[in-house]
Amino acid sequence: MASTDDGVLLYVYQGALFKIADGVQVPKAGSLFFCRHLQFRPGERVLELGTGAGLAAILAAKAGCRVVATDVVPEAVECARENVLINGVADRVEVRLGDCYEPVKGMTFDLICTNPPQMPTPPGREREDPVAAADNGGVDGWEVLDRAIQGAPGHLAPGGRLVFTIFAFLSQKAAMAKLEAVGLSPRIIGREVQAFPRIGYERLDHIRSLDTEGTLPRTGLPKTIERFVVQGTQPP
Ligand SMILES: C[S@@+](CC[C@H](N)C(=O)[O-])C[C@H]1O[C@@H](n2cnc3c(N)ncnc32)[C@H](O)[C@@H]1O
Repeated sequence: MASTDDGVLLYVYQGALFKIADGVQVPKAGSLFFCRHLQFRPGERVLELGTGAGLAAILAAKAGCRVVATDVVPEAVECARENVLINGVADRVEVRLGDCYEPVKGMTFDLICTNPPQMPTPPGREREDPVAAADNGGVDGWEVLDRAIQGAPGHLAPGGRLVFTIFAFLSQKAAMAKLEAVGLSPRIIGREVQAFPRIGYERLDHIRSLDTEGTLPRTGLPKTIERFVVQGTQPP
């Protein structure tokens, strides 16, 4: 007999409980790497772009920050809102639906953080579904990141930080240059070698064509990939 009970996917991290709804990305190695390098100072105004299930946003709120979390996928926004309630931080987190900075027009923050979709996506392989929104970063992987960087100076308070993750094959030199180009002082604040992402194997030739720093072996299947957490600081 067919069952109507689809079960509930739960994720526990740093004393917080997250319900993961259908279509919302389960936190992965990159999510935890990202969270490990976020320094939350009580009272700070924090923006998380692309919150997914709300992991970083809820940890920031638990650390005493006032948080706006955004996502372009309605299922993620609903999921993050439910997790905010589950974790008792509704007085400190607001979850808004929308693209990049669109939901926070006119607002400034001390910390803007994002673990954005950044998997280079070969032309013709774009999709519109929530899973694609979590992974696909446009042809060169920088589509969302470029907009996060370009909009950051207008949404950061003096001395505020933009913090984001990148795969090494996106080029740390490019990240430094893009931050400097908008007037943010760049620094790598975390690095970690992780298992090569499964989705990357499907796009390996395309990724290799973008890998200007030679971070991947030129032949064979890579087993690992280095990832960076990058910070750009607004002048005081
Ligand atoms: C790699 S997932 C990260 C989710 C979560 N922050 C984490 O670290 O586990 C990227 C998230 O960004 C969201 N996203 C994709 N494009 C976006 C955009 N243009 N504006 C806001 N959010 C976006 C996706 O829906 C997804 O939830």
